[in-house]
Formats: sequence, C-alpha cells, structure tokens
Amino acid sequence: MKRLQVGVLVSGRGSNLQAILDRSADGDIAVDVAVVVSDVEDAHALERARRAGVPAVYLPPGRFRTRLDDEAERRYVETLDEHGVEVVALAGFMRILHRGILDRFAGRVVNIHPALLPSFPGLDAQRQALEHGVKWTGATVHFVDAGVDSGPIILQAAVPVADDDTLETLSARILEEEHRIYPEALDLIARDRVSIEGRRVLIRRPEGAGEEPPA
Ligand code: GRF
Repeated sequence: MKRLQVGVLVSGRGSNLQAILDRSADGDIAVDVAVVVSDVEDAHALERARRAGVPAVYLPPGRFRTRLDDEAERRYVETLDEHGVEVVALAGFMRILHRGILDRFAGRVVNIHPALLPSFPGLDAQRQALEHGVKWTGATVHFVDAGVDSGPIILQAAVPVADDDTLETLSARILEEEHRIYPEALDLIARDRVSIEGRRVLIRRPEGAGEEPPA
C-alpha cells in the first residue's frame, strides 16, 4: 500500500512526533514522516527526527511572535513541497498559520490539541480544564482552518479529571491519549477513510469490513 507522506511542524519537545515516528517505523500506520520542520532552532523534536533518519529542518519564523511572516511561510511551503509532503501535521507547533500553508495544503493540515474541543481552545488547555473544574477532558485531532483550534474534528479521546490532579498528572494522562490518537488519525487519512462534510468529519469502515450482522 502507498504510504502517506506527512510533513510534521514542531516547536519543542516532540513527543507526538516520536509517537508518529515509532508507529510508522513499526509499520502499523501507512504513514512516512517525509520531513520535520521547526521554527525553533534547538527544539528537541529536531533531534528526534535526525535520530530516526528523517530530514530535520530549522526555518526561522520571521518577524512576528505568534505567526509566520509571509516570506517565512513561503519557505515552509517550498520545503514541504521539496519533500513531497501530502499532509501537514502540526505537533506542538506554536504559531498560527495563515493563507500560505493553508491554501497550498487545503483540507490537508491537521493538529493535535490537549482538550476536548470546542472546550478550552488556545494555550494552556490542560490548565483551563483544571481551573474550570470539568470532570472529563481529553485530546482532539482536527483539521486546521484559519481560526484557533476551530476546524472539523477527526478523532477525540476523553480522560477523567481526578480531584487530586495537578497540571503535570493531568497533562501526562492526556498526552498518553494524544500519542494514541494522532498516529491513528493520520492512518485513517492515509487509508482514504476520512471525508469532510461541513463541520463534520465522516470516517468510513475499513475496506472489506462487512456490515454488522443482524442482532
Ligand atoms: C501537546 O500537548 C499538543 O497537544 C500541543 O502541544 C503539545 C506538544 O507536545 N499542541 P509535544 O511537543 O508533542 O511533546
């Protein structure tokens, strides 16, 4: 089976990148990481990519703090294209995308967020959940649109919030689910099982799976 060529954008630790690299190396997702691009020169994620033998590229973000400037975004698109990227996966990439990448990869940019969207978008989602006092939170993989964490939802996983949770314990519980559902969502896209209808993402049964037998 043809493997989906994914470009991963990172800014830091890269544990989600690692989960994707590991599942890809094990051959249990139909995904290759074609290139990893970081806006932070010493991001640990770049080291993880190099160790896995994947091209690791630092591209300066330009003159803004929360987004790429137009020139930088052009260079990101060029680099992704040069590596034959079909889908762009944001994994702890700390900048908002604008028209450059979103136009070039329309409907093919995905993100992982550490909350059950649409609750707690933006920064510090785990802290927002703790402070709000919700009993459940979780992780969401979604398509990226021009808003902040607002695009159509592909997969979610819920985790309980315990009374004695700290930011660290809750974040760790959520992260475990992130590492499970992000590779899974990319695999669904790779197998062409995902379609977007308005705000809803529909997931087809796997090829060859029959209908449920009657009860
Ligand atoms: C994760 O919690 C992810 O949901 C959020 O940023 C964090 C990145 O962690 N978008 P890592 O770099 O993948 O370890």
